[in-house]
Amino acid sequence: MADSAADDATSCSTAAGQSIPAAGELWDQFGRRITYLRLSLTEHCNFRCQYCSPASGTPFFDYADHLRAEEIELVLRSFHALGLQHLRFTGGEPLIHPQLLRYVQFARELQIGKLSLSTNGYLLDRLAEPLAAAGLNSINISLDTLDAETFARVTRGGRLQRVLQGIDCARAAGIPRIKLNVVLLRRVNAHSLPELVEYALARHLDIRFIETMPLGSAGIASQDTEFFSAQAARASIEAKVGKLIPVASSRDQGPARLYTLAGAGSRIGFITPLSNNFCASCNRVRLTATGRLVYCLGQEAGLELRPLLRGGASVEELSAAITAGVWRDKPERHLFTVDRGRSSKIFMMRLGG
Ligand code: GTP
Ligand code: 5AD
Ligand code: SF4
Repeated sequence: MADSAADDATSCSTAAGQSIPAAGELWDQFGRRITYLRLSLTEHCNFRCQYCSPASGTPFFDYADHLRAEEIELVLRSFHALGLQHLRFTGGEPLIHPQLLRYVQFARELQIGKLSLSTNGYLLDRLAEPLAAAGLNSINISLDTLDAETFARVTRGGRLQRVLQGIDCARAAGIPRIKLNVVLLRRVNAHSLPELVEYALARHLDIRFIETMPLGSAGIASQDTEFFSAQAARASIEAKVGKLIPVASSRDQGPARLYTLAGAGSRIGFITPLSNNFCASCNRVRLTATGRLVYCLGQEAGLELRPLLRGGASVEELSAAITAGVWRDKPERHLFTVDRGRSSKIFMMRLGG
C-alpha cells in the first residue's frame, strides 16, 4: 500500500548492504510505516480470561526483569524521535500497574498524538477520572457477555457487575472514545451478540467483535470448536438488530471494519485476523513488560531492549537499534489460519493483544 511513500523516504545503507530508513521515521521492508506502539506495562492481570491466559496466570516474573520507569521513558523518547503517533497501554492488565498515570502524563508531555489503553475495566471505578485528567484519548474495554455466570466462567472469576460499573465510570469521566471488545467464542457468546450491540447502542459506545486468535497452547483460543467467524457474527446481529451500514474507512480505524445502524451513534466493528487478513496495513509494533520489542502478534521472538537500556544506551542508539530491527525482522504477516494450523505458544497476556 505505502510503496510510493516508502520510496520517498530517505534511506542509508547498512554494512550488510540492506537499505534502511534514515532517522526520524520507522519503516519496514514491506512499505509500511510504523507509527503505533502497544506498550505492555505488566504481564499480570486480575482476571484469567480463557482465550488470553493460562489458568495459573503468567509465570512469576521478577520485578527486576520488568522495565523501570526511567527505562520506559527512554523507550518512549526513542519512539517519539521515530515519529510515534499513537501509544496504547496494554498488559496483562495495565490498570494494576502503579506507575500508569505517570506514564500517561509523560507521554502527554512528549506530545505523542493519541494515547489509548486496553483494559478489562475492573479498576475503572477508581482510575477513569485520573486517566481522563491525565489526557487519555480513548479506552477499549473487554466485555464478552452480559451474563454474570458466563462472565465469571470466561474470565475465571471476574465479576461482571463491577466491569459494567467501570464502563459507566469511564463514560462519566468523559474519556472521549470508549470501545467495547467482544472476543467471538462459539459456545460462550455466539448466541448473545445482539444484546451486546444493544447494550453499546443504548450508551452510544462503539463495539467490536474479534475473531479469536490461536495464541497460548492451553487456552480455548487454540480450540477450533470455539472459532466463530466475524461473518457469522454479522449475520446474527443483522437478523436481530437491523441492517449494518458500512462506514467509510478512516486512516485511524485500526484493524476493524466498521459499520453503523440507521439512526445510531455507535460504530460496530469486526476484527478479522483469520477470515480476512489485514496485515498489509499494519502500522504497529509491541513492547513486552520485560522489554522485548515484538514486531508482530504472530511472533514470539523480538529484539531485547533491556540489555541496551541497562548498558546505558542513548536515545539515538536505541532509535538506531529499533529502526534496524523493524526493518530486518518485521514479518509481512502473521500465519494464523482458520483451521488453527498455526498457533503461537506465547499467551496473549504477555503480548498485550
Ligand atoms: P484501535 O483500533 O486503535 O482502537 O485499537 P485496537 O483495536 O488495535 O486495540 P485493542 O487492544 O482493542 O485490540 C482489539 C483486538 O485487535 C485484539 O484482539 C487485538 O489482539 C487485535 N489486534 C490489535 N492489533 C493487532 C494486530 O496488529 N494484528 C492482529 N492480528 N490483531 C491485532
Ligand atoms: N484472540 C483475539 N483477541 C484476544 N484478546 C485477548 N486474547 C485474544 C485472543 N486469543 C483481546 C481482548 C482484549 C484485547 C486487548 O485483546 O478482547 O480486549
Ligand atoms: Fe486479562 Fe485482558 Fe487477558 Fe483477560 S483479555 S486475561 S482481562 S489481559
